[in-house]
Amino acid sequence: MCGIVGYIGHREAYDILVKGLHRLEYRGYDSAGVAMINPEGKLNIYKHTGKVAELEAFCQSKDITGTVGIAHTRWATHGEPSDVNAHPHYSTNGKIAIVHNGTIENYNVLKQALMQHGCEFVSQTDTEVVVKLIEYIQSNNNCTLLDAVREALNQVIGAYAIAVIDSDCPDTVIAARKSSPLVIGIGDDETFIASDASPIIDYTNRVVYLRDNEIAIITRDEPLKVITTDNEESTVDIQTLRMSVSQLEKGGYPHFMLKEIFEQTNTIFDCIRGRIAADGTAIKLSGVSDHPDRFINAGRILIVACGTSWHAGLIGARLIENFARIPTRVEYASEFRYANPVIRPDDVVIAISQSGETADTLAAIKLAKEQGAFVYGVCNVVGSSIARETHTGTYIHVGPEIGVASTKAFTGQVTVLAMLALAIGQLKGTVSKEQLTEVARSLQSLPALITETLKLNPQIEKLSATYTYVRNFLYLGRGYNYPSALEGALKLKEISYIHAEGYPAAEMKHGPIALIDKEMPTVVIAPDDDLHEKVISNIQQVKARGGSVIAIVTKGDTTIPAIADHVLEIPPVPEAISPVIAAIPLQLLAYHIAIMKGCNVDMPRNLAKSVTVE
Ligand code: G6P
Repeated sequence: MCGIVGYIGHREAYDILVKGLHRLEYRGYDSAGVAMINPEGKLNIYKHTGKVAELEAFCQSKDITGTVGIAHTRWATHGEPSDVNAHPHYSTNGKIAIVHNGTIENYNVLKQALMQHGCEFVSQTDTEVVVKLIEYIQSNNNCTLLDAVREALNQVIGAYAIAVIDSDCPDTVIAARKSSPLVIGIGDDETFIASDASPIIDYTNRVVYLRDNEIAIITRDEPLKVITTDNEESTVDIQTLRMSVSQLEKGGYPHFMLKEIFEQTNTIFDCIRGRIAADGTAIKLSGVSDHPDRFINAGRILIVACGTSWHAGLIGARLIENFARIPTRVEYASEFRYANPVIRPDDVVIAISQSGETADTLAAIKLAKEQGAFVYGVCNVVGSSIARETHTGTYIHVGPEIGVASTKAFTGQVTVLAMLALAIGQLKGTVSKEQLTEVARSLQSLPALITETLKLNPQIEKLSATYTYVRNFLYLGRGYNYPSALEGALKLKEISYIHAEGYPAAEMKHGPIALIDKEMPTVVIAPDDDLHEKVISNIQQVKARGGSVIAIVTKGDTTIPAIADHVLEIPPVPEAISPVIAAIPLQLLAYHIAIMKGCNVDMPRNLAKSVTVE
């Protein structure tokens, strides 16, 4: 949430900053702003409500010169989206500017104290408090910008990634992080700062991931220096990015979401690559094979995640209990962290997170680690906070996901969780060779099955026209596909703003059935599995009440097509991995309905992709 960019070097900063903001716009798009120090040493700040394009239009006739600058795209927490609450925020003397991602919990206490010293505030944000505090410390202690920033950070409580510039020291940018991500790109005589690597990759692949409580001192023509907030020198660990610019572009698709849906053939291929023996008889996950005792002796597995990742977790729990026979619970990370949970040293905690930055998931694993649990990460973003904070894990390797609604990350997560369940089962001897080989070979055939399933696109587009103006939807599924129903409903509400509820199909009788009428369609995920007959009864119950049914069925099913209003046929696949295939028509249905409603599917209102605040 909120994206920050910074630059210092030999080029004009503005273009780099704005291009970077576009890349980070998925993190928030309530308002945007830039600050540059011009060649005369004047700090110019421009900010505007709305998307980055509106900021660009606003800046057209302004002085945007300068080779040092910072920029921000906002997802509002403190204070409504407005020009005045947009970042950068600045000191009373107009010389220091700051951009911030995170939340300062004690901002009100600090604000009151500063006001008692005559300090005035123009915005409602927590961030303005930080810059005014830096200014106050600097002028009272007569100290350097670095010392003032360090002292201020020692007074704030909360989460932050910040970048600060000061027109009195135009050759320096100070950046720091605690619980919010920050990456520094090292170029030739130039340095970049960003919330993730996507604004940096055009210029350099050499990056430093700042750690918690570190402050980077980026000085023109000098090597990067990093210290801690306790003023200890830190090591600078330069890593090489493996990301290409083409992964960050739409590649001919009208939206990132559609591109990402269609990419799943390749992303699942990348996800399983090197992890399944060619003949399908063994799973190779180093996170499991390097720590056999942790899994053999695990008394319990706890899965923590948020949003779509939590839905993947529900499927993962079923997979683990089925193949590895370890009792597994799934928790919302936001609930888990405050529940005073019982965590035992023989627990394995699995954190699932596409971004690897979700604040609640990060806090949940810190808690689990403190209490001695072994923590396993299932992340997409390489080098992300959760990936680094966990003891080990498995990357899903689906490439950058930019559409706010998660698609390819979900199928990658379920695929990794299936491999994880099989790998633990293989280690513990709880899965037979035949069973493992059957599921592993099906995992290997997923890319081909996804390609086949994607052929449903024109049919789903046509079907969507019928349902564009519906106000409520029900999604039903059972067993492995109950979480698919939750995920299908979430996709629809996220991007089309149509109210949708996911339910275990049989539970419908205990409430939602009261809602069913001609106006409320039901999507039923009904592949040919052990519960097929039961789902057929549930469809009958909907039809008996005048509801229309869109059913996702296995090719060859003759019963459901006779009773449902529309059927979407998916290829046969073992039950355990059917949610990967069932996800595709659900994603396409949400996409087309949202497009027909005229919604911005890549940047739905009020949402952000990386939720780095509580
Ligand atoms: C946000 C995103 C969702 C995502 C969730 C968890 O709500 O919009 O798509 O599922 O955060 O994010 P994570 O990065 O931890 O998977």
